Amino acid sequence: MNDMIQPDSKATSTAHASSSDYAALYAVSLSDPDGFWSRQAERLDWTQVPGTIANWSYDPVAIKWFEDGVLNICHNAVDRHVAAGRGDVTALIFEPDDPGAAGRTLTYGELQAEVIRMAGALKKLGAGKGDRVTIYMPMIVEGAVAMLACARIGAIHSVVFGGFSPEALAGRIEDCESKFVVCADGGLRGGKGVPLKANVDAALAKDGADVDAVLVVNHTDSDIAMTEGRDHWYHEVAADVPSDCPCEPMGAEDPLFILYTSGSTGKPKGVLHTTGGYAVWVATTFHYVFDYKPGEVFWCSADIGWVTGHSYIVYGPLINGATEVMFEGVPNYPDHGRFWQVVAKHKVNIFYTAPTAIRALMREGDEPVKAHDRSSLRLLGTVGEPINPEAWRWYYDVVGDAQSPIIDTWWQTETGGIMITTLPGAHGMKPGSAGKPFFGIQPQLVDNDGAVLDGATDGNLCITASWPGQARSVYGDHERFIQTYFSTYKGKYFTGDGCRRDSDGYYWITGRVDDVINVSGHRMGTAEVESALVSHPKVAEAAVVGYPHDIKGQGIYCYVTLNAGEEADDAFTAELKNHVRTEIGPIATPDHLHFTPALPKTRSGKIMRRILRKIAENDFATLGDTSTLADPNVVDTLVQGRMNR
Ligand code: WT7
Repeated sequence: MNDMIQPDSKATSTAHASSSDYAALYAVSLSDPDGFWSRQAERLDWTQVPGTIANWSYDPVAIKWFEDGVLNICHNAVDRHVAAGRGDVTALIFEPDDPGAAGRTLTYGELQAEVIRMAGALKKLGAGKGDRVTIYMPMIVEGAVAMLACARIGAIHSVVFGGFSPEALAGRIEDCESKFVVCADGGLRGGKGVPLKANVDAALAKDGADVDAVLVVNHTDSDIAMTEGRDHWYHEVAADVPSDCPCEPMGAEDPLFILYTSGSTGKPKGVLHTTGGYAVWVATTFHYVFDYKPGEVFWCSADIGWVTGHSYIVYGPLINGATEVMFEGVPNYPDHGRFWQVVAKHKVNIFYTAPTAIRALMREGDEPVKAHDRSSLRLLGTVGEPINPEAWRWYYDVVGDAQSPIIDTWWQTETGGIMITTLPGAHGMKPGSAGKPFFGIQPQLVDNDGAVLDGATDGNLCITASWPGQARSVYGDHERFIQTYFSTYKGKYFTGDGCRRDSDGYYWITGRVDDVINVSGHRMGTAEVESALVSHPKVAEAAVVGYPHDIKGQGIYCYVTLNAGEEADDAFTAELKNHVRTEIGPIATPDHLHFTPALPKTRSGKIMRRILRKIAENDFATLGDTSTLADPNVVDTLVQGRMNR
């Protein structure tokens, strides 16, 4: 498993960074961060070029990059390409859910016109600099356009994944006091409709979520309700907007977006990213990691509702002037060859997806892959969770015909962009290892007491120095930002991940060490699922843990205690699973409900999650010391319950 695989020369001979380039650039990025990052900042157009580069501290926590710089990220992603005579270059290739439906291709010039229209529409409804705009869209061109339009006028976008429930959407609208929503009437995924506008209506019917205007893009001609005075069809508003909408000059540290993500406790946090540092980070990482060359076609299969979509569908590729596919559909519709059919149709060169998709497709065998021409592929990326070596091999051997390097990329919503990876021209690959630190990144492994561990070792993954793309705060709760990321190990950013470093300096992420689980590459707080479970009137108590799942990486295992007198039959199991879906969304659907009369607790009433994790993993041999439990018999009952399944 430790064997190093050297990438094929097809990928490496022309790469942006060779192995010696990497060594030299990495060294400079640490010895002279200001010099290194001011040179990387030249990838962008600035209205005012920054004089101050890094200005940060982790104790006390205050992070700024390029603070006196002024720029607009929409100008950098769109307008400047047009101004430079690249207006006819294809920016977006939209591939619809239904392979028989009409797609759409936009040049940078056409994208600019669309963004100006959307920006004009938002302005007409009263949105402006600093306002929060919630975007709840399917994977259609207008989703990216809405984000860019916000950036253009200086509004802060908060994209909520279209799979989240009205309840979850309402919480996110309320938390950032968003006064505007951009949605579509409906979305399409795998042939099924997603009632986006109806979900917005349901969210806005709740107390607290209260907006001035909803801008509705017609995508599916669905029959939807429009609330007079609040809801507006995009095509009607946009029919009469000025033909230009200048890019708002933004300070580098002005907020760009909020993106909600789950943590170990409490409600999802609104991770806040600012403009200049984020722009430099995604521009630089996209350039080196995906090694993009003009004329190539890039495809990231993520959704714009996640950070991967923000950084590597919207901002990173477009700032680099790339041509990219935007895909509305899913990997298994109309059949399991859909990804590879799209690769063949659009001659995709660089493809970026998640291990969960790879595992799901691997299960269907090689035929659906081999049925399509993949000779255009040059690089294959992966993100979201550790990739098991078996899936890695299949991705490499079958999808890539052992010719395209696998670029594993470790990063997080909070890091803004890729942090640990192998660069295609610089590093050999080790299946299952994310690789080496990107420029400027200084990983450190520490033990539970914070002692630094050197050499080949296992520990908790921290980053010791700031990088431009780092999140700056939790929206509306800076104290929570400090508490969550900088208090466990003072003076360091703590990632929440466990990690091993081998003797070649390669990093192997071993998974979260906190109460966060990773379901199909989506971060889920166990506390969120627990609170959804206990919001059912029949549930007294619940404890949720992750357990190994063949396709999803981790599944959601729920221990549930019902109120006295309640019975758990099959109908109730289905009802409770459905209740969680309604509260959060389909991605939070419990995989396993384990009804139990009691949970293992210490005498002080703390639930012993360590034991619950082991039982869910079917690992009964090492339950450890149960003597501190208030009632040790509870464990026997749970083990029996697990074995009877
Ligand atoms: C968590 C972050 C980064 C965009 C998608 C997820 C896990 C992410 C990898 C990888 C092993 C990975 C970590 C991390 N993770 N990429 N290549 N190898 N683990 O973003 O929702 O913020 O989740 O995903 O556990 O902490 P996110």
